[in-house]
Amino acid sequence: MTQHDHILILDFGSQVTQLIARRVREAGVYCEIWPFNHADEARIKAFNPKGVILSGGPCSTVDEGSPRAPEMVFNMGVPVLAICYGQQTLCMQLGGKVESGHHREFGKAMLNIDSECALYNGVWKKGETHQVWMSHGDRVTKIPDGFKVVATSENAPFAAIANEAKKQYAVQFHPEVVHTPDGAKLYKNFVLNICGCAGDWTMKSFKEEAIARIRAQVGSAKVICGLSGGVDSSVAAVLIHEAIGDQLTCIYVDTGLMRAGESEQVVKLFRDHYNIPLIHEDASKLFLGQLEGVSDPEVKRKTIGKLFIEVFEAKAKQVGGAGFLAQGTLYPDVIESVSFTGGPSVTIKSHHNVGGLPERMNLKLVEPLRELFKDEVRALGVELGLHPDFVGRHPFPGPGLAIRLPGEITAEKLEILRKADTVYLDEIRKAGLYDKIWQAFAVLLPVKTVGVMGDGRSYDYVCALRAVTSTDGMTAESYPFEHAFLSRTCTRIINEVRGINRVVYDVTSKPPGTIEWE
Ligand code: XMP
Repeated sequence: MTQHDHILILDFGSQVTQLIARRVREAGVYCEIWPFNHADEARIKAFNPKGVILSGGPCSTVDEGSPRAPEMVFNMGVPVLAICYGQQTLCMQLGGKVESGHHREFGKAMLNIDSECALYNGVWKKGETHQVWMSHGDRVTKIPDGFKVVATSENAPFAAIANEAKKQYAVQFHPEVVHTPDGAKLYKNFVLNICGCAGDWTMKSFKEEAIARIRAQVGSAKVICGLSGGVDSSVAAVLIHEAIGDQLTCIYVDTGLMRAGESEQVVKLFRDHYNIPLIHEDASKLFLGQLEGVSDPEVKRKTIGKLFIEVFEAKAKQVGGAGFLAQGTLYPDVIESVSFTGGPSVTIKSHHNVGGLPERMNLKLVEPLRELFKDEVRALGVELGLHPDFVGRHPFPGPGLAIRLPGEITAEKLEILRKADTVYLDEIRKAGLYDKIWQAFAVLLPVKTVGVMGDGRSYDYVCALRAVTSTDGMTAESYPFEHAFLSRTCTRIINEVRGINRVVYDVTSKPPGTIEWE
């Protein structure tokens, strides 16, 4: 935990609770998200928040047994901001009333500002109308004593209410989403002006404190870190190296399933530029050998995962006497979010990581990025001197190109795929679209089709292009390229990559598709 001011966000299961945390942190204030039912009094006291935010959620406060905020939140003398379901439970708990169902409101709504309010001081004025985002079925019908209405909308007569004396605010709309254009300013007002937080939680301060924490945790022990070439493990490695220097050894397992030039880049950056001790193990023959004849996606994934751990373990033993394994785990992986769906979830894909290794090798974990969101990791990377282009790279899956080659993997197909992927990304960069896209890549299909090239017949592979927008990889939309872009890219791929004579674009969103093809 940091020495900075803290804001506590109690999660009632909203899809956008993480966005609340992002807005608070953008204001320079450290915050954590806790499930509402894991916040006992002792824990809250120890966390010592300067303010509490109650998230939205899918339940109805009218239902028996529906979630409630711990009572202490309203009595501990710190400001409270309650959003949507949070507003409804605040009202129920403090003596107001909520009704179910009749006035559902989803999407954009216009908010009438009826009164000045500290929450929007300097942002909105009395008499103005502003766009906000609503998403609710229930609504408040009687507000608790001490509160007054400060904004209304057509379907929410209590769209924003405030008890200025107690610094308690509750809104029906969602200020954390971009469709409430001034929402970020409201969060800033709340955490800085109402809660009085200093706003001094920056990536520079995070870096310095993280370095001190790593030193304290590791002491003089040796640390090993598996580099994947991705942003998270790279930033973790550079940060840890800054803290403990050559006590850190990085291990890069080259599976032979990387993109063009990727392995060389990793070696150049870490060994040559940062002078970090690096073991570069070229295990491509081993991986491709074991994958021969394998075309089932799950078998591919499991084969790669198992081999990776074996190779990594063997290399780690070579380092000798390591006490810690460093990992680039991020905050979204550690947030316990409230799930109201229950039930066992099915495995869609077996994800590739080094799970199980720490126990097998008796290693403790160093996870210096556990408190950060992806954007914050990128900012930290820049703070550590990594190039913005490097930290801004699209995610790349652990099993690499293997899951972009449906069917059997061969060295020849890998080469064709690498070339097509390089051309595609080059076109995306030239069009200035790289940063607008969450992930873009080529897939080589195990299908040959007939074409005509020059005067002759061709019989070559089909290349599929994929590009999606997403905020977390959980859901995604296909990127709406202009046709001219697609035909230009198609022409280049067919002209420059031998073995491909047809290019198609994948317009499937997730769900029902997944981002990767396997
Ligand atoms: P899917 O294909 O499940 O992918 O929609 C969602 C996101 O996860 C990435 N992905 C992986 N990342 N190991 C990883 O580190 C994996 O095994 C793996 N499989 C998919 C994928 O690239 C996308 O960003």
